[in-house]
Amino acid sequence: MSKSQVAPSILSADFTNLEKSIRQVELANADLIHCDVMDGRFVPNITFGPMLIRTAQRCTKIPMDVHLMIVQPEDHLDAFLNLKPEYLTFHIEAATHADRLVQRIKEAGVKAGISLNPATHESELEYLLETLDLVLVMSVNPGFGGQKFIDYTKKKTERLADYREKHGLRYKIEMDGGIGENNIQELHSAGCDIFVAGSSIFSDDNPTAATMRLKKLLNN
Ligand code: DX5
Ligand code: ZN
Repeated sequence: MSKSQVAPSILSADFTNLEKSIRQVELANADLIHCDVMDGRFVPNITFGPMLIRTAQRCTKIPMDVHLMIVQPEDHLDAFLNLKPEYLTFHIEAATHADRLVQRIKEAGVKAGISLNPATHESELEYLLETLDLVLVMSVNPGFGGQKFIDYTKKKTERLADYREKHGLRYKIEMDGGIGENNIQELHSAGCDIFVAGSSIFSDDNPTAATMRLKKLLNN
C-alpha cells in the first residue's frame, strides 16, 4: 500500500495571513495543499480562482491539489492547468464530456481527478477509472467547511478500493469533508489514500500540531 497523505484545505485557513497558515502546515510536512474553487453555481458558495492558488504556490513548494466545484469546468481548465498543480479534479456532475476533460488534463502533464458528490454512485465513473489518477469522494455536500461527515460515503470508498484491487488499477482515493482525528483511521482502513482536512486543522489553535496528529494516526 502506498503512503497515505494529508491535504490541509485552505478554505478554513486564515486569509489575513495565508502565508502563515501554509507555513504552519508545511512545518508538519503536509503532503498537498487542497484548494477549493467554488463558483456560486455548482455550489452555493464562492471562494477563489487561479490567482489565489498562484499566490499560495509562491509561499511553498508543497504541491497543489485543486478541487474545482464549478459548472462548465471545460471553460476554465487552461487557467488551472497553467498552474501545474499536482492534481486537477472536477465534478462528474458538472461535466458534459468527462472523458475529454480527463484527456486534456493528462495531456498537460497534470494528474486527473474526478469528484463524486455524496449521492452520486461510483458506477458513474466505471469507464473512466482505468485512466484516472484520483477519485475524490465527497464526504459532505460540497460548498462549506466544518460540516458533519456523511457515513454512507465510507462504503463508497470501500467499494472503490475493492474495485481497484480486483481490476489492478492505480487511482488514488481521496476523501473530503468532515475528516478529523475521530475518523481518519477507519477511513484509512476503508481504503482512502489522501485525506483532506480543513476545519480540523485550521480551527485548531495550533495547525502544525493538528496536522502532525493526523499524520501520526496514519503512521506517517
Ligand atoms: C467542501 C470542501 C472541503 C472543505 C472541507 O466543499 O470541498 O475541501 O474544505 O472542510 P472540512 O474539513 O472542514 O469539512
Ligand atoms: Zn475540497
